[in-house]
Formats: sequence, structure tokens, C-alpha cells
Amino acid sequence: MILFKKVADLHKYLDTQREIGMEIGFVPTMGALHQGHISLIEEARKHNSLVVCSIFVNPSQFNDPADYRKYPSTIDSDIALLENADCDVLLYPSVEEVYPDPDEKSHYELGYLETIMEGKFRPGHFQGVCKVVHRLLKIVGPDNLYIGQKDYQQCLVIKRLLELMGMKDQISLHIAPTLREKDGLAMSSRNARLDAQQRQIAPGIYQTLNLVRKEIKPGNLQLLKEKGMNHLLEKGFRPEYVEIADASTFLPLNEWDGSQKLVVLTAAFLGEIRLIDNLLLN
Ligand code: PAF
Repeated sequence: MILFKKVADLHKYLDTQREIGMEIGFVPTMGALHQGHISLIEEARKHNSLVVCSIFVNPSQFNDPADYRKYPSTIDSDIALLENADCDVLLYPSVEEVYPDPDEKSHYELGYLETIMEGKFRPGHFQGVCKVVHRLLKIVGPDNLYIGQKDYQQCLVIKRLLELMGMKDQISLHIAPTLREKDGLAMSSRNARLDAQQRQIAPGIYQTLNLVRKEIKPGNLQLLKEKGMNHLLEKGFRPEYVEIADASTFLPLNEWDGSQKLVVLTAAFLGEIRLIDNLLLN
């Protein structure tokens, strides 16, 4: 694997690769890699002649400075995992490399995607995600982009970004299923910050989503969402939301006619660690 810290060097290298007909698959990450990330690399490996991964903890997407400071960093084991997964190129840039002009302003028209659920509870988060993903896409110029379903709302935001930037015909977006630990906890870099007691409680998120899946029926959904919130509270979480939405439009639903495809989504704190998860219901 070749490691690039300078954007200009990577740019030059990828130009030569494109000229010889290489198809580029790209997996953007913030490091602290786990098997979920590696499954994205493996998927990219199957379908592209060149696999590029980036590790960049993007300050502009953290609405909580403490969360940014405490974001786990495990670069040596990340590199070992990527080499093992046969990744070709790693971009590991500094903040100055990614944002050479710190005063540059951007705004992405995300509509309601930015005002509900993650958008509501993490103001500015998706603008930061768009800013960095847009920048990374311009640097890497991939044919295929791989992201995980665990960040369901982020998947829709990135799909929207590709449309907004006129990139959707050049870059195919691939969404890979969430990988889970044996007890159901969705794999996440933030899991590394859970202490032993929190780690025992954490699968309660998945149990709550499954409870909603088991009990969903056409009609009013309000009581079921409240039941999900109470289930999390009883288990020791500080839940922010349990929401049921149309799986494709992402609009939250209070009534279900039994025909729409649904997704249930939640965010909840254990101590100061914020976990999110989601499940397709039908
Ligand atoms: O999902 C992530 O790890 C990040 O939001 C991403 C897409 C790498 C952008 O920083």
C-alpha cells in the first residue's frame, strides 16, 4: 500500500493510474478502523482495479469539540488492517492539506435532511460531512464510492451531495450493510470508548430496534416510538430519538398504511458516548 500525506502527490499519482485505465474505488473514513470499514474495502476490492482509502478525522463535522478531541486514533493498526485487506492507497492528510484555505465558506442545500434526527441533534454536522466528502471526491475522483448503512441519514446526505454537485453520473454510490458484534451492537469506532459496564448495556440499542420491528403494525406509530424511548431509558441510555421513517424519502411517519418501506432509527448516549443505529423494518 502506498501512503500519501500530501494531496498534490496523490492527485498526480491517481492521474497516472486513470490514464492507464484503472477504475478507482474509494472508501472515506475517520480511522479507528474495524471490520465494518474493512468490509467496505473488501467490497471496493472486488469491483475496482485500484482501491483508495482516506483516514481523516474531519473537525468541521463535529458539533461537540470534546467528541472531536476524544475521537479514537489507531493509525498503526489501521495501516496493518488496510494492508491485510489489500488496499492500494491510503490518504492520511493533515487538516491544512484538506482545508488549505480555512476561511473558505461552503453551503449545501440539504433541505429537511438537515433538520431532522441527526441534523436536528447535531447542528452543522451534515454541512461538515458534505464539505469534507466534496473535497475528498475532488481529490480522489473515484468511479465508485463506498459508505456504510450504519450512518443511514449520512448515506442520503451523500447521495444528495452527488446530485447537487453534478457528480452522480460519474460516481456510483454503494451502500454496504451494517456489521454487528455477536451481541448485535453495530460496529462503530466510538465503541472503543465504552467502558466494560457500558459495553454490556450497549446492545440494548439493537434490542430496542428489534422490539420496534417485532411490534410494528399499520396505524398510529406514536406509542411504539415512545415504547422504544422508554425501553432505552430503562436499560440506562439517555436517548435522543427513536424515529420511524419512510426508508426512501426519510420523512418521519406518525401513521403507517402498511405499504411503505420503513426504517427505524435511534441515537442514544451511554455516559458521554453517543451511539446511533438503524434497522430496515420490512
Ligand atoms: O462516516 C464517516 O466516517 C465520516 O462521516 C466520513 C464519511 C468519512 C466523512 O468524514
